[in-house]
Formats: sequence, C-alpha cells, structure tokens
Amino acid sequence: MTSDFLDMQAAVGITKHIGGVPASRMLLEACHVDDANEVLDVGCGIGVEAVRIASTTNARVVGLDVSDRMLGWSDRRAREAGVRDRIDLLRGDVLELPFVDGRFDAVLCESVLAFVADKERAIAEMVRVARPGGWVGINEAFLLTETPTPRVAELARSMGTAMITLDAWRALWAASGLEERTVRAFRMEPGREVRGRLRWIGLPWVLRAWARVIRLYATQPEMRAVFRSQATAATEKDEAGPRPSAAVWVSFGFGILTGRKPAA
Ligand SMILES: C[S@@+](CC[C@H](N)C(=O)[O-])C[C@H]1O[C@@H](n2cnc3c(N)ncnc32)[C@H](O)[C@@H]1O
Repeated sequence: MTSDFLDMQAAVGITKHIGGVPASRMLLEACHVDDANEVLDVGCGIGVEAVRIASTTNARVVGLDVSDRMLGWSDRRAREAGVRDRIDLLRGDVLELPFVDGRFDAVLCESVLAFVADKERAIAEMVRVARPGGWVGINEAFLLTETPTPRVAELARSMGTAMITLDAWRALWAASGLEERTVRAFRMEPGREVRGRLRWIGLPWVLRAWARVIRLYATQPEMRAVFRSQATAATEKDEAGPRPSAAVWVSFGFGILTGRKPAA
C-alpha cells in the first residue's frame, strides 16, 4: 500500500475524490465515455466509477489498482450491481501500466496522482495506453498556494499525498502531448463534499463502512491510531472544543483536466 491513509480506506471500504458525482460526470462527459468501447479506470478504489460506467454505458471497463483489498471491494460492488461480467479488475501501478500501447478509448483517473510522486511518468503511462484519438482525463486535488499553512501541509502529509498547485498541474498537462486540452478548476466546499460523497457512494454502502469503522476502532489499536491522526489533522480546537477545520479543508481545490491523444 502507498500510505496509512489509503490502508485505512482499504480496510473500511471507502474511497473518495473531491467533487463527488458532478465532478465524475464532468470527467466522463469530457472523455466521451458514452461512445467508448473500452475504458480504463486507474486507481479504481472501491469501484464506484467503474461500476457506474459498466451500468450506464455499453463500454467494457478495466479497473486497475495497486491494492488487492481495494480490488476486492470493486469486485463486491460490481457483483452487487450485476455488472461483474463487464468489468475486468487488475492489480497494477499507474507508473507501469500492464497494457499495450493504444488500447483504450478513454483512460480516467480520480484522486490517485495526488498520492504519486512521479506525476509526469504516470500521465505519460496513461497517454501511452490510450488509443490515438482517445481521451485521457484526471480529477485531482490541488493546493491553493505554493506554501500551504503548517496545518494544511500536515493534513496533506498525514494522507501520504504529494500535492501540487493548479499551476503545476497545468504545466504537467501542457507537457503531456495531449491535444484539445481542458483544465477546469473548483474550490473545495466541505458541506458539498460530505453530501456529495454520500450520494456518490450510496447510503447502504456508507452505513456498512461506518459499521466497519466502529469495529476497527474498537478492535485494532494501529487502525485506531490512524483514525485519530486523521481526525486531529482535520480538526481545530478552541475554547468550545474540537470541531472540523473548515480553514484546512477550504485550502484545497480540485481540477478536471482532459485531453485527446493525437490521431496516429
Ligand atoms: C483516494 S483513492 C481514489 C479511488 C477512486 N478513484 C475514487 O475516486 O474513489 C486512491 C486510489 O488509488 C490507488 N493507488 C494509489 N497509488 C496507486 C498507483 N501508484 N497505481 C495505481 N493505483 C494507485 C489506491 O489504492 C486507491 O484505491
């Protein structure tokens, strides 16, 4: 696994990206997923987007993740949705995608590259496996300022991310070799995030995940430490006691970056 934070998500069966359903919809539309025969979801996590694509389009989907445990959740979600036969799940690293050049009509990646130091190579790999004329799209968080406050830097560090600014993403995207590039940037809104995540993942799944959180907290001291460090990084204390730190969360934005691989 890549970080304690992702380990914790894999144990609980929850993953996320900023922006929820509207952000994913924007990404899928810009990458013309409705017209695709085969789509790759890089870092598919618990499989929400892979399952949605398989359920709502005619495309076959490949969900790839470095974590076997995440792939296990994707498998379960695909079975529950009745689309397991339309999704291939594969263990692999975005830095070395196990596919031939030019295979996919669309290559998508949501909230994965924030955890990867060599973003240039990851983008090059995604472009490599897209077919000529196919689409590549990412939804990634960014820092609003080059030098974040110590609290924000601590939160980013505690999640095991290597976060960069929007300008740095723009530069990486400009160097990707993709054409018809778009970059859309949004500020994070904590309230919308909570509601959006619920809608994106679905209430039954969230309730089961919360039951796992309670069980893990009660029974596994190392997991308890991870939950606590996350809660500490994301809250602030004043005389009224601890509360979620809006000041920390609004220091992030998210960008939807898309582009088309030049036709051969
Ligand atoms: C924050 S989760 C996002 C998952 C999903 N895309 C979503 O939007 O919910 C990040 C995912 O990326 C996966 N991941 C991290 N590093 C990776 C890498 N180098 N290659 C492939 N997947 C990776 C993690 O295992 C995890 O499932």
